[in-house]
Amino acid sequence: MTLPSFKFRNQSIQFPIIQGGMGIGFSNHLLAGTVSKYGGLGVISSAALDSVVSFRLKGEYSTRKACAREVSDAKKISEGRPIGMNIMVATVNQYDDSVLGSMDGGVDVIISGAGLPTKLPGIVSTHPRAQEVALVPIVSSARALQIIIKKWEKYHRLPDAVVVEGPLAGGHIGWTKKEDAYADHNKLENLVSEVLELTHQYDIPLIAAGGIHNYHDIKKYLNMGCAAVQMGTRFLATFESGASQNYKNHLVKCTKNDIDLADIPGSPCKLLFRVIKTSPFYQQALHKDRIPLCNKGYILVNGVCAAQNNTDCFCICNGLLASSSIETNELELYTVGGRADEITQIISVQDLMQELITNPDILLCNQMVCNM
Ligand SMILES: Cc1cc2nc3c(=O)[nH]c(=O)nc-3n(C[C@H](O)[C@H](O)[C@H](O)COP(=O)(O)O)c2cc1C
Repeated sequence: MTLPSFKFRNQSIQFPIIQGGMGIGFSNHLLAGTVSKYGGLGVISSAALDSVVSFRLKGEYSTRKACAREVSDAKKISEGRPIGMNIMVATVNQYDDSVLGSMDGGVDVIISGAGLPTKLPGIVSTHPRAQEVALVPIVSSARALQIIIKKWEKYHRLPDAVVVEGPLAGGHIGWTKKEDAYADHNKLENLVSEVLELTHQYDIPLIAAGGIHNYHDIKKYLNMGCAAVQMGTRFLATFESGASQNYKNHLVKCTKNDIDLADIPGSPCKLLFRVIKTSPFYQQALHKDRIPLCNKGYILVNGVCAAQNNTDCFCICNGLLASSSIETNELELYTVGGRADEITQIISVQDLMQELITNPDILLCNQMVCNM
């Protein structure tokens, strides 16, 4: 009695578990490739991949070349099983090249959020592999999905699946005000029910994300009608993730009280951003000890990065690059999901996948029979 497979477009994933994209550099070729090897869908994050791959391979990689390389390296580890790429709409200047480079490298699925990916099918359609790649937007409401469906009509494409991400997710969440993030109607189970009404009409598989921690959580969302789940923080806490050792140490030690939604100071894209409060970079921002500085410019709103001249924002790119050991002149910034406090150890992807697909009640029951 294990979990069903997840089928969408021309993809078949052995288990209905997607490892969410985690930038910068945390869900890299190694993590994504290993997750896919053990039957989930591994997803690379495209955020700042030019910096990540140039650092790893000690060369000069453009965004397009870096995305292609990271996907093809992940596919070697996954032994050819499907690989996804997560591309944030907010990475405006790298967006098109991230899409096309991932397709050059053989990506199977593109997952895109942090803004509405209204232009995604148009960019994909210019590539010879357009029909092979599944397109999956991330939304936090049925209204957002309705807008995407309408905009994609002109490209004659529907989303091949949709991720609905609730307020317990790691990284940015889809709200700007804390009272909205904590509102009852925005709890993941309520968002799932709302979005399912729409996805049923169009026959689009739904993927639930945000605060999904164990086998029982996965079953809960499958029983509600979801086709799969997406999980981030559990995969961050693996040997294979690109998080620094200090990041992993903070993750296993953090308590509920250590986890907060950063607003002011917060992310330059203005969406709430979940942090471990003890992150050195966040503490620096709280105490206004760091001169606002953005020398990266990956995340732009209306053409500018608000972290350039505003102490209400912190430069998440520099903080996150430090947390994957790439930027060495900055302190580290740690983002996690709202249930990170339940994680007590770093384990291998193989062990994590085994744990997630196994019903612990049956294991317990078998042990009791054996002991009698
Ligand atoms: C460290 C970290 C980085 C993340 N980076 C991204 C990202 O670059 N793009 C994105 O769409 N989602 C990002 N996410 C969200 C995850 O893909 C996933 O949907 C979310 O973490 C699910 O919630 P969970 O962590 O409670 O499982 C990130 C999450 C974490 C924990």
